[in-house]
Amino acid sequence: MEFVRSIPELRAAVRSARSHGKTIGLVPTMGAMHEGHYSLMRRARLECGFVVVSLFVNPTQFGPNEDLSRYPRDLEGDAAGSAREGVDMLFIPTTDEVYPANHKTSVAVSGLTERLCGRSRPSHFQGVTTVVAKLFGMAQPDRAYFGEKDYQQLQVIRRMTRDLDIPVEVIGCPIVRESDGVAMSSRNRYLSAHDRVAARVLSRSLAGARQRFAAGERSVEALVNPVRAEISGATGVALDYAELLDASELSEIDRVVAPAVLAVAAKVGPARLIDNTVLDPTTGA
Ligand code: PAF
Repeated sequence: MEFVRSIPELRAAVRSARSHGKTIGLVPTMGAMHEGHYSLMRRARLECGFVVVSLFVNPTQFGPNEDLSRYPRDLEGDAAGSAREGVDMLFIPTTDEVYPANHKTSVAVSGLTERLCGRSRPSHFQGVTTVVAKLFGMAQPDRAYFGEKDYQQLQVIRRMTRDLDIPVEVIGCPIVRESDGVAMSSRNRYLSAHDRVAARVLSRSLAGARQRFAAGERSVEALVNPVRAEISGATGVALDYAELLDASELSEIDRVVAPAVLAVAAKVGPARLIDNTVLDPTTGA
């Protein structure tokens, strides 16, 4: 696996791979990798001839009082894990490489970014879309891989890519969970043993909603209210939101008559965690 820090080096490698007929796959990450990241790399490895993983803790997607300075960093572990997954190139740009002095451009998707995480993290998605648009421009991939745990992020990136006619196929990959159901996240590293047990309430409450849905419940209130009650009632957990919205527009609905996403966010100890499940009335699952 090659390590690259500059955009010209990355471009030269991508150009050479493409000239040999290889499909380019990009897995954008902020490092502190776990099985969720590795599952994206595995999928990219299966589908692409040349796999680039970017590792950049993007400052513009963190709010002023968020965890940028203490975001977990583990370059050695990340490099070893990426190499194990057969990644061709690890792109680790500096902040100056990504945001040169006097940069003035950002990318914003309206509508889809206003609810859920966008409400409590108002500048977050603009930071994400700006850096992802830049990474697409830098690596010029054919395909890019994102986890469905960040469901809203995935929809926002899909919409940006479509609206700006960016020739990249955006591929969402399933949430990877620990054996007790907790969705894998770099921020799980912040949790004490006690917090880690408390965090189970997110996936447990979603599983309860899935059971009610499978039994035929279609009312949004009847599906969401018990989720809110269960998370709010958990010790050491502060609910941010639990919402059931149209799966692609992230707009409000009263009943689930088309695919919908039940998304939750909560503060557990020092970590803000998110999770979700898609409810599809066409399959009942
Ligand atoms: O999901 C993440 O890790 C980040 O938001 C991303 C997509 C790498 C952009 O910084």
